[in-house]
Amino acid sequence: MSEMNPATARLAELRLIPVVAIEDANQAPALAEALLAGGLPCVEITFRTAAAPEAIAAMAQVEDLLVGAGTVLNVDQAERAVANGARFIVSPGLDPATVRWCLEREIAVFPGIATPTDLMGAMALGLEVVKLFPAETLGGLGALKALAGPFPGLKFIPTGGVSAENLADWLAHPRVLACGGSWMVARKLIASGDFVEITRRVRAAVDLVG
Ligand code: 3PG
Repeated sequence: MSEMNPATARLAELRLIPVVAIEDANQAPALAEALLAGGLPCVEITFRTAAAPEAIAAMAQVEDLLVGAGTVLNVDQAERAVANGARFIVSPGLDPATVRWCLEREIAVFPGIATPTDLMGAMALGLEVVKLFPAETLGGLGALKALAGPFPGLKFIPTGGVSAENLADWLAHPRVLACGGSWMVARKLIASGDFVEITRRVRAAVDLVG
């Protein structure tokens, strides 16, 4: 692997990416505190809600918290996310224009891949780390092993169906850089302000990383 982008290297250390859908950006500081209290100083804020850009901006102010943007579908969203302080970009699929835009600015970018054709597209763009999405629906670890085989240089961030129950198995696979998922930061927990439960789930996941 060539030299890693610093944000990618940090995610490779942390090994977990909490995937957040936040309705009210005013909750961003409490969410940041809950993640840090659980021992996980990173977050992916998805563009699934209108509050995402503002939440990214708020969380990017928090010292030592690595903030990225998820569900980024196009260059416009990537631009907004990065302007607001996002240091990595995650997409459900592969949009070459978004990937190129990020690479030109040395922003870490993880497009979702689900097939060998997607993987060849990602490699052609020069990527070495991709999101495997939707990981469990694709077939779980079996899908990862089958997809990873022909592409020895690539690492994966399985996301979609990763849970407290299957996390350890995913993390044990040598081609998994980190796991993404919403189970630690479930939308209903954020909406109801249950940050104690968020910290508990985050801590449990961090403990599994070891
Ligand atoms: C994503 O946006 O990356 C996924 O929806 C997260 O998947 P999960 O909700 O199954 O963890």
